[in-house]
Amino acid sequence: MSHSPWLGNRRSVEIQEHNKTLIPGGVVSLNRQIDPALCFVKGDGAYVWDADGNRYIDYHAAFAPFLLGHNHPVVNQAVIEMLQSGHTLMGAGPTYYEGDLAELICKHVPSAERIQLTNTGSEATYHALRIARSHTGRDDVIVMQGGYNGWHNDVACNVMTPLDQIGPRVSPGEYPVRPLSAGIPAEQLRRVHVVNFNDLESIEYCCRRNPIAALITEPILQNIGIVKPQPGYLEGIRKLADKYGFVFVMDEVKTGFRHALGGYQSICGVRPDLCVFGKAIANGYPLGVIAGKRELLEYFVHPDPQRRVLIAGTYNAHPVSVVAAMATIRLLAEGNGAIHRQLEKTGAQLEAGLKATFEDFQIPVSISRQGSAFCVYFMDHVPVDWHDLAQNHQFDFDTRYRRLLIENGVFHFPLPTKQGSISAVHTETHLEETLAATRRVLKQLIAN
Ligand SMILES: Cc1ncc(COP(=O)(O)O)c(C=O)c1O
Repeated sequence: MSHSPWLGNRRSVEIQEHNKTLIPGGVVSLNRQIDPALCFVKGDGAYVWDADGNRYIDYHAAFAPFLLGHNHPVVNQAVIEMLQSGHTLMGAGPTYYEGDLAELICKHVPSAERIQLTNTGSEATYHALRIARSHTGRDDVIVMQGGYNGWHNDVACNVMTPLDQIGPRVSPGEYPVRPLSAGIPAEQLRRVHVVNFNDLESIEYCCRRNPIAALITEPILQNIGIVKPQPGYLEGIRKLADKYGFVFVMDEVKTGFRHALGGYQSICGVRPDLCVFGKAIANGYPLGVIAGKRELLEYFVHPDPQRRVLIAGTYNAHPVSVVAAMATIRLLAEGNGAIHRQLEKTGAQLEAGLKATFEDFQIPVSISRQGSAFCVYFMDHVPVDWHDLAQNHQFDFDTRYRRLLIENGVFHFPLPTKQGSISAVHTETHLEETLAATRRVLKQLIAN
């Protein structure tokens, strides 16, 4: 299959260098700093284009929101109609839209009895932990090594932590907190307990020693690829939450709406106390959701001001994002889940094609996939936790693989183990092009 040669990144570098003179680092979310430096100028369907005129099949999807593909006409139309209606942000009283969106979410998400809306996933996880603290009267939280739940003080720690900073696997036990940011008070870090995913004994270990208000976890760790829960793990968290009285917060910012309209909780059958959504719910427009048990969401209007949790935000439930989310959810609900069935089919096809391709080149890989989200691990089994991954995955090989894919017209985020995201508009032709690019890349990797 013919392909256009990569035109380089001269213009992208120029733009980034210019921006650096005014914006420290030249990017506004530090994890957008990539090598090679790329500045994207357009996205449409399954493709994105950079400032030098290179076109890529996109599997990054802006860190996963674009489940329906970029620039989706139906979602865009909903936004255009809302803008033309003159119904702008009023900042006083409710809007029709947010009530309708709440109804849609509560209809589809099993544990959602009540909801509140924010702009981002981080705000949603922040509020969920405040509710947990008010409800339990306790301060400590358990987070997962290898999980990401946002940028705020309680959770900005221990994602892809080098093992020499946290030591070997301990179970039962906990790992040192390694914050992702300076400026977090030491007292707050003492309230955070880090354990490995799939390790119930360590959760219990923390509960016996500390006043745990909440455990927050993604149901599948999707910020270090696709690390799935072992059978019984999420059910085990549910039981420990009931036994020790902490609030189980399921972070569905990445899994929600991407894997099913009811979130991963509708697939695994485990009901958290609170859950949070973002990303795919509005197909690229900014929206965060806190959902869950009525008695917990009602802490936002608790009659006792000492226990009431503040929800505030100039842009909360901005009509642009709210109508984008409603259009996205309605599309996902059509045909009794037709889009998710199609995403599963495309995901399975790509997985099979990649497996066969790597086999042809005799490169041992393990592909972990949930529906439209996948990761190729350069190791002989799919990882169960961060230690497993950090010890066995070939990080340098993964980096070279991703960079060469970029030069061959396929955009995976060029950082090892970052999730690949398929959209509803990735077709067989895109898959064929992707597999052809993969073959070219593997030839080059083997030759060097
Ligand atoms: C699982 C998870 N939770 C929370 C967040 C934070 O969301 P946001 O970047 O919208 O603040 C992210 C972002 O990547 C995420 O992956």
